[in-house]
Amino acid sequence: MRVTQFSPDAPARAHAFTLSSADDGLAALGAWREYPRVQQPVWPDEAERAKVFDDLRAAPPLVFAGEVDVLRDRIAAAARGEAFLLAGGDCAETFADSTADRIRNKIRTILQMAAVLTYGASLPVVKMGRMAGQFAKPRSADEETRDGLTLPTYRGDAVNEFDFTPEARRPDPSRLWRTYTTSASTLNLLRAFTGGGFADLREVHSWNRGFTSGAGYDRYEELAGQIDKAVRFMDAIGADFDALKVVEFYASHEALLLDYEEALARIDSRTGEIYGCSGHLLWIGERTRQLDGAHVDFMARLRNPIGVKLGPTATVDDALRLIDRLDPEREPGRLTFITRMGAGTIRDRLPALVEGVRDSGAQVAWVTDPMHGNTITSSNGYKTRRFEDILDEVVGFFEVHQALGTVPAGLHMELTGDDVTEVLGGAGEIDEEGLTRRYETLVDPRLNHQQSLELAFLVAEMLSRR
Ligand code: PEP
Ligand code: CO
Repeated sequence: MRVTQFSPDAPARAHAFTLSSADDGLAALGAWREYPRVQQPVWPDEAERAKVFDDLRAAPPLVFAGEVDVLRDRIAAAARGEAFLLAGGDCAETFADSTADRIRNKIRTILQMAAVLTYGASLPVVKMGRMAGQFAKPRSADEETRDGLTLPTYRGDAVNEFDFTPEARRPDPSRLWRTYTTSASTLNLLRAFTGGGFADLREVHSWNRGFTSGAGYDRYEELAGQIDKAVRFMDAIGADFDALKVVEFYASHEALLLDYEEALARIDSRTGEIYGCSGHLLWIGERTRQLDGAHVDFMARLRNPIGVKLGPTATVDDALRLIDRLDPEREPGRLTFITRMGAGTIRDRLPALVEGVRDSGAQVAWVTDPMHGNTITSSNGYKTRRFEDILDEVVGFFEVHQALGTVPAGLHMELTGDDVTEVLGGAGEIDEEGLTRRYETLVDPRLNHQQSLELAFLVAEMLSRR
């Protein structure tokens, strides 16, 4: 979050917000309420919702305009091929799992993957968590029925509880306040870890501590040894390592609940522009990217870098119209397309999209999400993914860009820093029986720590061949 590695002048750009005089500017943001909206909970009590909305609007922003502006520059660099974006974290964060240990493990996993990618590909890596705000989920059905009882579907801890009882499933706006406080405590830890020396590259060995040996780990130890050696060499010739102590790390999530996102928007007192202050990068999901819908209207008004998920049914026309709405100025770093096609589809669907967008002159960053197009149900009933499919979609992504001469700008992963068993395969050879051992996710299956490292090594090879 503090910025030293790339541009020493950036902290000077961080600045305060005004709120009281800003109401006029923010009023226009509420226009989304006039548009068709999907995936929003029905809050049972309007007075309760309004009270939480006002409380959130009066609360301090979670991120700052200066940081958001720097991230836009970083994404622009990734879109040009001068950096690589690595985003990772849970499908959905939960309040219960927002503990120091779990958060540290996720940060550590992303730092390790970034070290592998940076060293392997000699490219700066822009590190980003699906963290500190990823508490809401779009769902394919509004209701769930079990044994004749029908209840609202679980929409993430930001909305209701997972337990299958009428009380638990009732949308509760006080959960939006808890989303804010849990995001704040997560960000606080993130800022401490990335600003306090934990993320210092000289700690490469210690990030691996506590994990047993295995393919990914042995390889990581070897790489850490090489980095160590390089660092000692630089030290010996008098290099200044202070810049390594502080690492940039950004927070991102799907901007799904527009009540929450609107309440956390703030006006930049310098420019009068509106920033979504719930996270640095906000994305629009595959289910909410309707051109005439509430989410696109809302996000078009924010200054943040915006992501949009594009699934296998997305057309060139969809992409071009999204660009016109969200990036009319064709501003580098403003728009990231996160494709999630499926391993069997990406080689067919992605080329036309990339070509159409390239020919339009927009400078979008192309990022692959190899998770959401590859979800299956195992024969013993688990929602899972195969490591080989995930990898194959990443390979397809690189092949398409290689063939077109365009830039694969980044990777968007669902992962955890713990040893869960939710995704099949990988060097740990998790099989269907293995899924029963430690399957913890409430929504989508995540790569575990070892699978994440393994994937990073494979992607580093592809990047270095680029
Ligand atoms: C997600 O990222 O968790 C998600 C729901 O993805 P998508 O919108 O691509 O389906
Ligand atoms: Co998911």
